[in-house]
Amino acid sequence: MAVDAPYPELKKTHTMAHKGRPWTDYKPPPAAPVWSVIEGLGSYYILLAAIELDIFDTLESTGPVKVEVLSKKLKVSQPHLQSLLDSLVALGLLDQFVNVYELNDTAKRYLTSDGPASMANLIPVAPGPHNNWISLAETIRNGSPSTPIDDDPTSFYVPLVEGTFTTMFRAATRADLKIRYSNLTEPHVLDLGAGGAPWSIAILKACPEATAVINDFSQVLEVAKNKTKEHKVIDRCEFRPGDFHELEFEIDTYDLVVLGHVCRTEGEDGAKSLIERAFSSLKPGGRLLLADYFIDMERKFNPHGVLMGMTMMTSTMKGFPITNEQATTWLRESGFDSVRLIEPIGFQFLYVATKPFDY
Ligand SMILES: C[S@@+](CC[C@H](N)C(=O)[O-])C[C@H]1O[C@@H](n2cnc3c(N)ncnc32)[C@H](O)[C@@H]1O
Repeated sequence: MAVDAPYPELKKTHTMAHKGRPWTDYKPPPAAPVWSVIEGLGSYYILLAAIELDIFDTLESTGPVKVEVLSKKLKVSQPHLQSLLDSLVALGLLDQFVNVYELNDTAKRYLTSDGPASMANLIPVAPGPHNNWISLAETIRNGSPSTPIDDDPTSFYVPLVEGTFTTMFRAATRADLKIRYSNLTEPHVLDLGAGGAPWSIAILKACPEATAVINDFSQVLEVAKNKTKEHKVIDRCEFRPGDFHELEFEIDTYDLVVLGHVCRTEGEDGAKSLIERAFSSLKPGGRLLLADYFIDMERKFNPHGVLMGMTMMTSTMKGFPITNEQATTWLRESGFDSVRLIEPIGFQFLYVATKPFDY
């Protein structure tokens, strides 16, 4: 059994080799965190170029291959391709043995277009419009981005919801292990800002008698129509195009209302109002499913959530991350009880909250 050193100041991690000589040669911190940020820009564009050049799908079809063969197949410059492939290896996104390159497990799962958790369509659109990052300092000075996606939401959201579908569908399917929507006999679902409708599709597939009202802007609903058709549940869906703040939804009607990644672009008033609308549309005993990248009260223990919130701030008028404290306060103030937080798959969080029978 490891025992603690009797004199903590003499622990191995506190010797001069680690800390420098006190008072005389203070050892400065490494520059690695700064370099990793600088390289972040290049890393992203390396991956984007690899997707654009079809590298992962081509390697899937060829299997392990030499760069000279791959460059001929892709009709690209061999030395430039080699540089790109080596960079992908350095980033942990490909494997390489001598001159032979092949997909590693990460690439097979997330980067091929038919991978089981493919993010291939998400990569180009996930950061939002790239120019908004270039003018971030200006956005912070002015308190709003120069070209917010709010000006033309559908041209941003159509490719985005295509890209996020696989991940959200996995989260929605796995959520059943914790919340057991599959035990409901004939649930009626309202999915607000449904995108490709991953939540509705997961529920409709688990419950053969379920029906869903699927809302989004009309152009985005075309994605939902395609996805529900592909999953053979379209005949149990009603599509309601329009702004979810303006449409009227039935009162005391739904067993499940889904707010999947819609609140963090809405600002406090918009998010609260959506939660209140969800409450009034639910039957007593019905449940709200509120998915987002929630962050902690001190805003530092979930860096992924913080950066997702930043992405929203960079490209929307009202977008900010939502803290767990805000979410639970809004849920309780709207009348919900039995509030529960689950993580159906890594880094995807979901509040489940119930409308009481005696509200
Ligand atoms: C990040 S996507 C989430 C899609 C889906 N709910 C999911 O969890 O994968 C946000 C969606 O909300 C929709 N949306 C945003 N504002 C809306 C509004 N005012 N009315 C209806 N839909 C809206 C967008 O078009 C987009 O499809």
